[in-house]
Formats: sequence, C-alpha cells, structure tokens
Amino acid sequence: MANDSDPMVVVPEHALISHKLTRLRDVNSSSMLFRNLASEITQVLVAEATRDLLTVEDVRNTPLESFSGQSLAHRIGIVPILRAGLGMSDAAHKMLPMARVLHVGLYRDEETLEPVYYYDKLPTPPNIDLALVVDPMLATGGSAIAAVSRLKETGITDLRFLGLIAAPEGIAAFRAAHPDVKIWMAAIDEKLDENGYIVPGLGDAGDRIMDSI
Ligand code: PRP
Ligand code: URA
Repeated sequence: MANDSDPMVVVPEHALISHKLTRLRDVNSSSMLFRNLASEITQVLVAEATRDLLTVEDVRNTPLESFSGQSLAHRIGIVPILRAGLGMSDAAHKMLPMARVLHVGLYRDEETLEPVYYYDKLPTPPNIDLALVVDPMLATGGSAIAAVSRLKETGITDLRFLGLIAAPEGIAAFRAAHPDVKIWMAAIDEKLDENGYIVPGLGDAGDRIMDSI
C-alpha cells in the first residue's frame, strides 16, 4: 500500500510479509532460514513493483486453439548492491528469468557511514530499459543514492528500488536525491541508532546472509 503522504514509497500490506519479516528479524533465525525468508519476501516485493510493466501482444497456441496473450516489453535489469543485495537478486531473477543481472559494489565506511564505491561493469549505453535495484537495507540512504546515481550516469532512466527494511532518515535522503525513483520496502522502522543501524531492524544484513548456518 502506498505511504499515506508519498505515493513514491510503497510498503505492501501483506500478511505473508508480516509473518516472514518477524522471523527474518529474529536473532535466533539461522542464516539458512534468513536467506530463505529474504528470498520469499523479495518475490512478493517484485510482484508488487512490476504490476505496471509494459506488455505487448503475444499470440500463441494452446492445445485447443490460438489465443492472444501478453509478454513483457521492457528489457529488465536486476541490480544487487554487493554484498547484501545478493540475498535478494536470485529471488528477483526467478521471478524475472528474462532479466539481466548487473552488479554494483558499495560498502559503508564504518566510521563516517559514507558509501565507498568499489565495483561495477555497467555497459554504456545501457543494455536495459528498467533497473530494479535491490538491497535489503536503506539506512542513511547513502549506498542506494550512490548506486542509483551511477546507474543514471550510464543512461538508465527508469529505476525502481526494492528493499526489506528502511529507516525514515534513509527514505527522506533517497527521496530528496532521486525523487523520480519509486521505492518498495517490506517495512519502514523507527529510526537509526547512534551507529547508523536501523532499529529494531535485523542487524547486519550482509553478515546474516553470508554467514554459515
Ligand atoms: C549495508 C546494506 C546497504 C547499506 C545501507 O551494506 O546492505 O548497502 O549497508 O546503509 P546506508 O543506507 O547507510 O548506506 P554494508 O555497507 O554493510 O556492506 P555489505 O552489504 O557488503 O555488508
Ligand atoms: N546495514 C545493515 O546491514 N543494517 C543496518 O541496520 C544498517 C545498515
């Protein structure tokens, strides 16, 4: 459901998301369970965020007769922000098997909380029309802002951001930097703590995804 005050920020009201997010946050959930839950929530978010994609007529045959169906018209890209975005990209790719996956590497400096850009291999001009940027956490918003700025530099104009948990501070910063980019989140939490972590949040998403069981 769109945020009351901002139609560019969507937090779907869905019982499955609430159920799975509760277990995702739980400190006692294993890494394997965490990865599974992150994937399952991502699939719901992808379905929501792609509701309005353009389709073209696609005529096929059933075993009985010919029918006029629809196929997606966009060249879609899934852009995980390394590392933690990898916890969402496979699930998004399962939903959109025709999509390209383009990686962007960023980490947050632990002292300054500023994003440090370390990797991409993005083609210019772009080979996609629409980028779904995925990263579980939107905390200060610095990493997501930097990733979207870099994607725009390559000429991509249609971008959407999908994440699991945001802080209000990150949403505000991202909306100010990229007012044209719509956001889908499973939850918007209370605030950032003094170390830049989202509370109640889920801790360090990258560590929880990459840990052994
Ligand atoms: C986490 C998360 C985001 C970023 C969010 O990544 O996956 O990319 O922090 O914080 P921000 O909104 O304040 O920029 P992290 O820097 O921990 O790197 P990692 O994914 O490699 O663990
Ligand atoms: N990155 C995380 O992984 N978790 C937070 O709460 C904030 C940034």
